[in-house]
Amino acid sequence: LNAQNREHASADTIRWPNGAGYMNGAYMPVTEVRIPVTDWGYRRSDATYDVVSVWGGAFFRLDDHIKRFRRSMDSLRLKPKESDEEIKAILHRMVGLSGLRTAYVGVDCLRGRSGPGERIHPVNARNYIVAFASPYHSLMSDEVVARGAHMIVASTPRIPQRSVDATAKNFHWADMTRASFEAEDKGADNPVLLDYDGYVTEGPGFNVFTVTDGVVATPDFNMLEGISRLSAIDLCEELGLRCEIRKISADELREADEIFVTSTAGGIIGVSRIDGRIMNNDRPGPISQKIRETYWSKREEGWHADPVNYDVTMD
Ligand SMILES: Cc1ncc(COP(=O)(O)O)c(C=O)c1O
Repeated sequence: LNAQNREHASADTIRWPNGAGYMNGAYMPVTEVRIPVTDWGYRRSDATYDVVSVWGGAFFRLDDHIKRFRRSMDSLRLKPKESDEEIKAILHRMVGLSGLRTAYVGVDCLRGRSGPGERIHPVNARNYIVAFASPYHSLMSDEVVARGAHMIVASTPRIPQRSVDATAKNFHWADMTRASFEAEDKGADNPVLLDYDGYVTEGPGFNVFTVTDGVVATPDFNMLEGISRLSAIDLCEELGLRCEIRKISADELREADEIFVTSTAGGIIGVSRIDGRIMNNDRPGPISQKIRETYWSKREEGWHADPVNYDVTMD
């Protein structure tokens, strides 16, 4: 991925090489975006967000990301002043101004706080959009991607869906962070979290797939409906693979022939160990690799691509 990044990015066309930001109608270097420390978006993690990638100068599935972002905002009763079309225009302009041709683009909606003298209640808070585009990065290093990720099934369960809607992309990551430390302590790269009934949900920043006897499967509950997950499901269909969307027990995960994970930050990444069990000669499995290669070659060809207009100037 890094080699491909370099191909697309030429330093002299990048205005803000560390990234661009947007807040309150203004565009700026990413390091200049400031969130008020007293806003609930920060103090209470009372925010939602989405992340879309730019590859070869084009957004990937931008409409799908914006639709999910709106669903997340509705779920958390966040209402910024911008329409979906306006949010899209902001992201286009911000990436155009940054000059970045491969980028990781975050868009957040935060709850502010009650005004002076107002009742302290979320209903009285302004909701606003903040965005940034920074150089693209993968969830895992090139080395981990090549050898396959080492995973554990975490003992910390995912926050239940009834408490926090996991389909609304959110900052309630204390469970994920605790599980990440557990993985670290066990010498693994990443954790997979189960729900309270022992079924697979997701991991920090990714959805999970199993492959058993040539059949692909991915969970249907208590997880974010990832856009990369959707892409992997589409690719299974294209490659003639059966893909089932259903509950997956911890044992099924531990005994799978292959496991792979999906994320905007890296696409499709194969797993080579689960709870210390070695799969596929300690490398990503063949079906996982096929889906990964197809994903990246289709992206190179402009699959679901929405080109950024780089011919923009500051007002
Ligand atoms: C908790 C969680 N699950 C899954 C994903 C994968 O979603 P997507 O493919 O849309 O990046 C993410 C993305 O960051 C995430 O934060």
